[in-house]
Amino acid sequence: MALDRTPPPNDLNAFWMPFTANRQFKKAPRMFVAAEGMYYTTSDGRQVLDGTAGLWCCNAGHKRPRIVEAIQRQAAELDYAPAFQMGHPLAFELANRLIGIAPENMDHVFFANSGSESVETALKIAIAWHRARGEGSRTRLIGRERGYHGVNFGGISVGGIVNNRRMFGSLLTGVDHLPNTHLPENAWTKGQPAHGAHLADELERIVALHGAETIAACIVEPVAGSTGVLLPPKGYLERLREICTRHGILLIFDEVITGFGRLGSPFAAQHMDVLPDMITCAKGLTNGVIPMGAVLTTAEIHDAFMQGPEHLIELFHGYTYSGNPIASAAGIATLETYREDALFERCAEIAPYWQEALHSLKGTRHVIDIRNMGLIGAIELEPLAGAPTKRAFSAFLEAYEKGVLIRTTGDIIALSPPLIVEKPQIDRIVETIGTVLTALD
Ligand SMILES: Cc1ncc(COP(=O)(O)O)c(C=O)c1O
Repeated sequence: MALDRTPPPNDLNAFWMPFTANRQFKKAPRMFVAAEGMYYTTSDGRQVLDGTAGLWCCNAGHKRPRIVEAIQRQAAELDYAPAFQMGHPLAFELANRLIGIAPENMDHVFFANSGSESVETALKIAIAWHRARGEGSRTRLIGRERGYHGVNFGGISVGGIVNNRRMFGSLLTGVDHLPNTHLPENAWTKGQPAHGAHLADELERIVALHGAETIAACIVEPVAGSTGVLLPPKGYLERLREICTRHGILLIFDEVITGFGRLGSPFAAQHMDVLPDMITCAKGLTNGVIPMGAVLTTAEIHDAFMQGPEHLIELFHGYTYSGNPIASAAGIATLETYREDALFERCAEIAPYWQEALHSLKGTRHVIDIRNMGLIGAIELEPLAGAPTKRAFSAFLEAYEKGVLIRTTGDIIALSPPLIVEKPQIDRIVETIGTVLTALD
């Protein structure tokens, strides 16, 4: 008989954790075992206030009954249907509902299972679209320094976070990057900063360098989240749109964190009044409950593929779990929850309070900048000399001990509470951070 190599259930060794300091974690694990509303419950029975909506994804808060019931019902009814050459009604219904809340130029939805896959999908559609229209030389992709577009090869190629790129050998060729939008003169700005619209003109320089006829698409996060919340200067996205249009370049908004109400509108595109050609989304699409991502496109992009004999596949791309029935059920229930509770409007209402609460930390020890928009916030810390990221990581650990979940990236505390957050909970998040920073080396 083969030896049973199964470690005991509570052994922490086998699971190689993502984007985690594994050795540190396994010495002092932080485990969540339950969640409801604004709170997590830890394995030692403590309540932890969620200042990050999980990972920017549980926009409606935790354990929402409608979503829980929809998943349970769907698992018992139709667990899986082949995603290729077969359909099931809920994927179509979810696509329709998404179009219902999307910017007016979005007419079609391609489903994926994560933000990373949505990005790969959008980049591939962009290149294939130009080719389908007879502009096959347009293969170059433009991203932005400090951008985050997930962790697959396309995403890290257009992304601009060095740690996510440098270990992984050759990335996509034919990629260029715009400068990031972070300018020192914008420090302490509330909302969109005043300076920096001209940074979009760098796209003109890239066009002049390579020729517009080589460029397929430009992808940016309307608000760069994972790098530590960098906001678009006033006029910047508008100018990017204008340059893309002038040169026939598709503009992709990666709305994996800004989608689903984070800025007070369904998508940032509506909040900023700038229409991209494609939107990638994930996370809040299912309230983080079941993995799902999506790419929204215009009819112009979709229709260019609907050519040739009808029995042929038009786009050689897709995933086993594209539009998975349980994910679709979760997505529909999530959108219903957002609507019933008017959560996008709620975000817009509470955002001014959030802004003032966050900026009240100006003058707190170690704080060198504070930025915010919608229910997003960032508190940038002076790095500990010789040990970048350590101070922020210590703040994260201390806040967790005090019952508040924050997130850090580099030396920046990034905050994104669920859209159901109440004013006293905002106060608690901010007070806890203040106390923690004041006591920290
Ligand atoms: C803007 C953006 N794009 C893509 C991703 C990747 O999403 P996922 O982790 O679901 O692959 C993220 C994740 O944080 C993101 O913020």
